[in-house]
Amino acid sequence: MRLTILGAAAGGGFPQWNCHCDICRLAWNGDARVSARTQSSIAVTGDGVHWLLVNASPDLRKQILSTPELAAGRHLGPDDRRGSPIAAVLVTNGDVDHVAGLLTLRERQALTLYGTAGVLDVIDANPIFNVLARDAVARVAVPSGTPFEPVPGLEVELFPVPGKVPLYLEGDVVDVGAMGDMTTGIRLTAGGRTAYYIPGCAAVDDRLRDRLRDADLLLFDGTVFTDDEMAAAGVGAKTGRRMGHVPISGAGGSLDAFSDLSIGARVYVHINNTNPILVEGSAERDCVEAEGWMVAHDGLELVP
Ligand code: MLT
Ligand code: MN
Ligand code: ZN
Repeated sequence: MRLTILGAAAGGGFPQWNCHCDICRLAWNGDARVSARTQSSIAVTGDGVHWLLVNASPDLRKQILSTPELAAGRHLGPDDRRGSPIAAVLVTNGDVDHVAGLLTLRERQALTLYGTAGVLDVIDANPIFNVLARDAVARVAVPSGTPFEPVPGLEVELFPVPGKVPLYLEGDVVDVGAMGDMTTGIRLTAGGRTAYYIPGCAAVDDRLRDRLRDADLLLFDGTVFTDDEMAAAGVGAKTGRRMGHVPISGAGGSLDAFSDLSIGARVYVHINNTNPILVEGSAERDCVEAEGWMVAHDGLELVP
């Protein structure tokens, strides 16, 4: 199995187009301690030829252009004029940062789009996604707990994690932490190795901790370091938990929750632009690295 981080940032990216928080300001100023990151997505292959895109970010076109393995024409015959190594797409929730890139994949390329029935219902309900013509792009609902093989040699299983509906579907009352089919984690296996990708997770419970015991690699929600960091940065009132993202630090945070698990490698992904782990040399960056975590960056290649 080979895995590439296409985009390591959360929704909005880093820097975010309208943000001048202390950390975005470093990026706007070209400070060498930070590097820009595009929005949340990974690509995975089991055979080195066919790639599964997990989440389709608004930055997908740029991500494809900077990833040689995803270039059109790779592995095509001399007479073929259209084709892509991206053979399938799986979305883990319906958030804008995970589905907007589907629009980039129009052009009648044959693909299969996978997601839970709940997330595919959200996509089906929005006619703009009809640019992915159904006769070219099949939409296949996959239930949690049933492994499937979206590309040759790569087995995938979805499982529910605590989460919520996408921001644009929130009503007056939001059930944050709901276990259903709106927010999923995925287990990836190939060649006897196992990786987990969980870019959004509102809380770490014992069920999740138990599940991850066989992980050679864990890519986990690193949206915020501190639950109230958006407010502290002066850019909003919402906590990480209210956005459906368990913080890294503090009681119940992911750093503590996974500290006693013997996971091969652990990597924070889906990092919000307010998160100080983005800054090399910051106390928070040093803290997560001392606990054995890597901070994902665009283009990071991982072999579990
Ligand atoms: C999130 O993960 O909380 C979402 O990406 C928020 C958003 O859609 O901007
Ligand atoms: Mn997101
Ligand atoms: Zn910012």
